[in-house]
Amino acid sequence: MTPKKHLKLKKKVMYIGLFSLTLIIFLINLGLHFYQNYKYKQTYEYKLITIGYTKEEATLLLKSFSEEEELKKILDQKKNEKLIQVIQEKYYMKKNLDRYLAYIEKNKDTSINEVVTLVNVHRDSDYYENTIEANLDKGILLNVNKYYYLSEEYIPEELEKISIRYAYAGNNMISEANTAFYDLCKSAEQDGLTLIVNSSYRSYENQVNTYRSIKNAKGEREADKTAARPGHSEHQTGLSVDVFEKNNQSTLTFKDSEAYSWLKENAHNYGFIERYPEGKENITGYNPEAWHWRYVGTEVAKIIHDENITFDEYYAFYVEN
Ligand code: DAL
Ligand code: ZN
Repeated sequence: MTPKKHLKLKKKVMYIGLFSLTLIIFLINLGLHFYQNYKYKQTYEYKLITIGYTKEEATLLLKSFSEEEELKKILDQKKNEKLIQVIQEKYYMKKNLDRYLAYIEKNKDTSINEVVTLVNVHRDSDYYENTIEANLDKGILLNVNKYYYLSEEYIPEELEKISIRYAYAGNNMISEANTAFYDLCKSAEQDGLTLIVNSSYRSYENQVNTYRSIKNAKGEREADKTAARPGHSEHQTGLSVDVFEKNNQSTLTFKDSEAYSWLKENAHNYGFIERYPEGKENITGYNPEAWHWRYVGTEVAKIIHDENITFDEYYAFYVEN
């Protein structure tokens, strides 16, 4: 073979080798592509997209639901816009998901935000329906409302007299709350306001009479808006006070008083929160009570104040969750 022919043959072999290598690489890539595609189709992200969720929504769902069972349940149904909205709510709690969705079905005009709030505080049941014994282990975060009750026998430990400088005789409160309340009153006094308590701890028996007399005067429907049924009063916890200003002890005008403005601005710094605020009636179950303040400690009071939520909402999301 002449050197020229030899060179030509060498080149030919080289070309064939190069071509074969390129082909192999191409085939490997193609196989890899098909394999990855096949694998992707097995993922929940892909399956969620095929039933109509966007990639972002699928990512959200996968972040919220990691269990196979949960994802299968979602895939068994049509795309649910409400589900996506619900899980993005600040106070969303997974344990309540089915109840949120059921509530939405029955209350189509209620905003998702409100649905989450209402279900969290048990408003998917009527007041005094499905009641639960209040959890005494929660200490100063004990929650008593129209769903949580205290037994007839319950009397808080460490009740002590509220100083008669700031309360009518016979008013008692749990020690820790009492100390904080004294500091609050002193501070208000320095700002020229003299606060006075006219009701604080009330026994079960006392509440029987309180509720009965209001019910006799106004009927059950109206009574329920202003007074708790026995066992359901926060006054039985020894953690709340009905506080007025010495010069304004009217439940009708206290909300317009300087003392009320002062409490709204400062009470949380002493661990107290407004328990039945205006605009939250459907959550608390009571007409606004500008005079009813509840001790929860400064840390919790600050959160409730800053997030503008009720104690019922706080308890559901931060304590019970
Ligand atoms: N007035 C409040 C709600 C009570 O009776 O406990
Ligand atoms: Zn009260």
